[in-house]
Amino acid sequence: MIMNQQETALDIYGGRRPELEATCEQLVACVEQLRDHMREESDFDPVEHILSRVKSEESMRAKCRHRGLPETPESALEIIHDAVGVRVVCSFLSDVYAFRDLLRTVPGLEVIAEKDYIRHAKPNGYRSYHLIVRTEAGIIAEIQLRTISMDTWAALEHHLKYKKDLEGNERLIVAELKRCADELAATDASMQTIRDMILGTTRG
Ligand code: GTP
Ligand code: MG
Repeated sequence: MIMNQQETALDIYGGRRPELEATCEQLVACVEQLRDHMREESDFDPVEHILSRVKSEESMRAKCRHRGLPETPESALEIIHDAVGVRVVCSFLSDVYAFRDLLRTVPGLEVIAEKDYIRHAKPNGYRSYHLIVRTEAGIIAEIQLRTISMDTWAALEHHLKYKKDLEGNERLIVAELKRCADELAATDASMQTIRDMILGTTRG
């Protein structure tokens, strides 16, 4: 497709959106393969669901502005790391780490950073394991791994973040959200213990 200069100038991804879409699909296929592998090994599907997206033009521009970056392809593709995002929601904590271990072994997928917000939760209670990867095509993507509980919390917190009219209750709400995050984390730990007992790896 031939694009005129004005269209190219308007595109935060410098005309590379089709490449990003392709990378996104490849990463999902890769994650599905790892999922199949784990299912065959253990007779158990470690994945609850998988989400993926290429960040919209508008969200990427807003993120550049928010971070004080110029709205350029360089900012969008090199400085910001989640133009391409894949989220893998797992059943159990151990599945998150097992998935992480497998991702590290994928040929052609370079892990350039990892953030363990599970062992080191954010102050607001956010938990997830993030890997920043670079594909052979040189495209950077963010893979988020989390449990169902962590995903539930993040979804609710995300809704509330955009709810402006909190009637001065904001500090209380933040504290309550943090409490919920910690309760969910305790539940994840208990569920893991139950699972280990069922699998016979822990004696009750
Ligand atoms: P952004 O947070 O995306 O600006 O980039 P960053 O470089 O600060 O990375 P970080 O690891 O903080 O977060 C990356 C992504 O994780 C975000 O885009 C969200 O999808 C998710 N995330 C991080 N913190 C939170 C949070 O407090 N609440 C929710 N709901 N999601 C979060
Ligand atoms: Mg952040």
